[in-house]
Amino acid sequence: MLLKITALPGDGIGPEVTAEALNVLHTTAKVFGHEVRVTTKPVGGAGLTAASHPLPDDTLQACLNSDAVLLGAVGGPAFDHYPIDLRPEKGLLKLRQALGCFANLRPAVLFPSLLDSSPLRAEAVQGTDMMIVRELLGGLYFGEPRSINGTSPDREAIDTMRYSEASIQRIAKVAFDLARRRRKKVLSVDKANVLACSRLWREVVTAVGKDYPDVQLSHNYVDSCAMILVAHPAQYDVILTENMFGDILSDLAGGVVGSLGLLASASVGGKIGLYEPVHGSAPDIAGKGIANPLGAILSVAMMLRHSFQLEKEAANVETAVTKILETGLRTKDLSRPGERTAPTQEMGQAITQQIATGR
Ligand code: IPM
Ligand code: MG
Repeated sequence: MLLKITALPGDGIGPEVTAEALNVLHTTAKVFGHEVRVTTKPVGGAGLTAASHPLPDDTLQACLNSDAVLLGAVGGPAFDHYPIDLRPEKGLLKLRQALGCFANLRPAVLFPSLLDSSPLRAEAVQGTDMMIVRELLGGLYFGEPRSINGTSPDREAIDTMRYSEASIQRIAKVAFDLARRRRKKVLSVDKANVLACSRLWREVVTAVGKDYPDVQLSHNYVDSCAMILVAHPAQYDVILTENMFGDILSDLAGGVVGSLGLLASASVGGKIGLYEPVHGSAPDIAGKGIANPLGAILSVAMMLRHSFQLEKEAANVETAVTKILETGLRTKDLSRPGERTAPTQEMGQAITQQIATGR
């Protein structure tokens, strides 16, 4: 099979983790007899530096001409003063929109060997295996109008949360379909006691749920969900939620399983899937070679699964990660006081070697 990929390393630790993820992709392709063609383009701050735009046209065209996109991270203090429409983050949002990927899948799984890396007690976190399904193209991220008006000190800001029935329906279906292949439980998260969008959300999700009598649907408010996510994370299977709530809860889930650096994501729903670690650009550790590449590497596994239906290859990458973690290798974010920490490259190479030798 030919896999045509556009790689967008982006900013901060993005290039470091993307390099390791691409090595894993190349090695997997070699082991399983596939051909990979990678085109690398700038996005975010790197796009601003190269072409004065967070999503240069050439970058977008390359993405549209590929089968799947692998993104590192965007953003950094050097670009914080840019106007909102030229911020690095805008490049990512535009790309998500251009690719039509409305469904953001963010699994958060506790690797048994990382029981001690979680800040939570072992008995609380044991068995955690959830899939956060985040709506990605609606809500406060895209609603209009949005602006800051007037002059200081009397300025006023507006953001708009907006959801159509159709946009709730399509993301709900993704969540229910995923649940069918898991433990058959969907928790829909909203703020229906306050927000109109959430009241519509709850109604539409309930209606969609009628078509899935084999899946158990429950609802909770986002504040309560945040509490339970910390107190009893193992009880969650699929969490279905809107854009902003999903952004917040997925970082929280990263903390629960030991490190945000572990979390991968797939943004699907359009013709071309977008795959990125959840962690972001982490400017404080950028360029030091200490970032955790596992979020990016596990994003490659998600790419193999969701864009290419290469389940065996995807599972092979995930098994390699599990095995290497079992050997005790730890990047800084996962290590406990006094433990040796592996640089980004060493972790990446260990995974690559595991895949190459199958040992
Ligand atoms: C994420 C990130 C992005 C988001 C930022 C970088 C725009 O936090 O993917 O979770 O808010 O969606
Ligand atoms: Mg986020």
